[in-house]
Amino acid sequence: MTTNLSHIFSPIKINNLELKNRIVMPAMATSYGNKDGTITDRLIAYLEKRARGGVGLIISEVCAIDPRGRGFGREIGVWDDMFIPGLSRLKEAVHGHGVKIALQLHHAGRETIAAVAGANPEAPSDLPSVILNQTTEAMSIDRIKEMVIAYAMGASRARQAGFDAVEVHGAHGYLITQFLSPFSNRRTDEYGGSEENRARFLLEILRAIRDRVGAEYPVIVRMSADECIKGGYTLDFIKWLAPRIVDAGASALHASVGVYSTPGMLSIPVADTPEGFNLFRAREIKQVVAVPVIGVGRIIDPRMADEAVARGDADLISMGRQFLADPEFLVKAREGRWDDIRWCLGCNQGCIERLSFEFKPTTCSINPECGREHEDLYRKAGAPRKVWVIGGGPAGLSAAMAAARRGHEVALFERRPFLGGQLVSASRPPHKEGFLRWVEWADRQCRSMGVTISSDMAVDERLVADQRPDAVILATGALPSVPRIDGIDGPNVVDAREVLEGTAAVTGPAVILGAGYVGMETADYCLARDIAVTLVDLAAFPPVNKFTAHGYWLHRRLRDGGGVLMLRTRVTAIEKSSVVAEQDGKQVRIEPAATVIRAFGSAPERELAESLKKLGVTFIEAGDAVKPRRLIDAVHEGDAAGVSI
Ligand SMILES: Cc1cc2nc3c(=O)[nH]c(=O)nc-3n(C[C@H](O)[C@H](O)[C@H](O)COP(=O)(O)OP(=O)(O)OC[C@H]3O[C@@H](n4cnc5c(N)ncnc54)[C@H](O)[C@@H]3O)c2cc1C
Ligand SMILES: Cc1cc2nc3c(=O)[nH]c(=O)nc-3n(C[C@H](O)[C@H](O)[C@H](O)COP(=O)(O)O)c2cc1C
Repeated sequence: MTTNLSHIFSPIKINNLELKNRIVMPAMATSYGNKDGTITDRLIAYLEKRARGGVGLIISEVCAIDPRGRGFGREIGVWDDMFIPGLSRLKEAVHGHGVKIALQLHHAGRETIAAVAGANPEAPSDLPSVILNQTTEAMSIDRIKEMVIAYAMGASRARQAGFDAVEVHGAHGYLITQFLSPFSNRRTDEYGGSEENRARFLLEILRAIRDRVGAEYPVIVRMSADECIKGGYTLDFIKWLAPRIVDAGASALHASVGVYSTPGMLSIPVADTPEGFNLFRAREIKQVVAVPVIGVGRIIDPRMADEAVARGDADLISMGRQFLADPEFLVKAREGRWDDIRWCLGCNQGCIERLSFEFKPTTCSINPECGREHEDLYRKAGAPRKVWVIGGGPAGLSAAMAAARRGHEVALFERRPFLGGQLVSASRPPHKEGFLRWVEWADRQCRSMGVTISSDMAVDERLVADQRPDAVILATGALPSVPRIDGIDGPNVVDAREVLEGTAAVTGPAVILGAGYVGMETADYCLARDIAVTLVDLAAFPPVNKFTAHGYWLHRRLRDGGGVLMLRTRVTAIEKSSVVAEQDGKQVRIEPAATVIRAFGSAPERELAESLKKLGVTFIEAGDAVKPRRLIDAVHEGDAAGVSI
């Protein structure tokens, strides 16, 4: 990889707008807005932090051009002049760091729910969203014309507020994509049917925007270069459309991919998807237009971005979630401080899945400050205290970093010879190397902040009682659960964590007991080594949901690798080379079972907590020690514990 980054750190123009470099922070919905869609201090502080990180252009998150077009709770709006003062404040904050800002004009169409849109979703046809499955109304011609004007008014207000550009959100399956797509647009009037008709809505919007904002104002159009669904449009259509979009007034194109129902969520791709997987589409689009093209899609390393620009794949590169994980990564890259960069894991847990599935504001699994920039979390503590953190998993490491940032004298103890806790085994299945990369990063951060780390050192109550630290954070994690089943102690039975850490050998065929994430990822690990697997679980439905992107890829690789998933199956005994179980009231024998792998879940490790309570030592608990959950819970709770001292 090139390392001088000269290609991304060169200026570029979109119309007359000069950007200082070619890195774009693309729109990412946050739900940090007020209920009425106006701008909050929280949103300003969050974006200002990214502006300080030296990006060339920030594109605001989705901003609704009509209340019925809102796709997220607390989505910001631009459908009325009342939004202009707040938008103007946001622009000022970003401009204060020499960074340009564009407003993304959005209407979700059918990809929303009535509770958010305030009415039934509207779309070119009355077909409900494949994913959200809401009653959807087909738009009348009058309503279409009204929305064309609404986009133009939105652009005009953005310009009034001082935004440097607008981006028309024509991607990801929202209203404009719905018109472009033969899958979702079944109209038989001039807005449906032929390619020309399906393109009409977007082209009318662009002409209307140009009429309002004049010839020079930069208008970016974001498109999904391929819907990647059966019956959807493909890259060929977009290559036909792109020059027409430019003729209608676009100053730059942003080549994203996928819609809500695209298998594996390619619009916001997880680590299972190769880095830079979508750049080839930007390259194809660049061949048919003369305006700048922005490439996007799991590009987390500025060196990869630089190479893409150097190769001519794209003129600018969007890096989305990397800005959530580490708002300062560009500065660090420029200064050659590669080891300081906190790399996005591509897990989607703290960002899009939290926003879409849990209806909670965006954050980042590994950056607990994301979305809390306005709180000044790590201000120096009044008096430094001697803090002990027990456990070197993600909760303990996060607690240690937070307490050290607040100026405390921190000692971290880990009973194993290495740090990371469960993340060590979590990093071994395919595409999960990033988890260990985070541990290594956290280790370096702790050391550079002066945290004393003692590995291979189990803390017991006597040590705490003798040394009496001022504050104790218990982050002792969770250990594998072992249910009582005949033969569970047999020589052919091993634990998933041992398999993944390489301390237990596996010969196939393997039977994995438990089909949650640990079981499924252990299957993935085995299949990658040509070990045949059968997964067994009591549940009636797969415990790993196929709707999450990682879940989708796990199921797909299991199927492609010939793995078997047996549901509604209760294991009753483990024998020398078989597993005995009951399925739907009948006894079944799974054989041969050369190795049986336990993946039943885990139980909190609370022994030390109980003895400290008896000793009267107060402590704060964090992570799986409270209740086994996920990385995000461990990191955020650990951080909160460190901040609270
Ligand atoms: C195979 C696998 C895959 C996973 N994949 C994912 C995933 O993809 N996404 C996700 O969100 N979560 C995943 N998880 C869960 C995630 O790893 C845990 O939720 C997280 O590690 C919990 O962090 P923690 O710091 O609370 O505890 P742990 O990671 O369990 O760390 C606790 C640490 O404390 C140490 N310790 C305990 N007692 C003492 C003591 N007395 N003295 C000193 N040290 C002590 C332990 O040795 C351990 O290192 C996975 C888990 C596994 C096993
Ligand atoms: C939490 C979240 C919210 C997003 N919201 C938007 C949005 O408002 N508008 C948009 O065009 N894309 C949105 N995206 C997609 C991103 O702009 C980007 O295309 C995607 O994350 C892939 O880039 P990355 O791999 O660099 O993160 C969102 C992504 C995330 C993670």
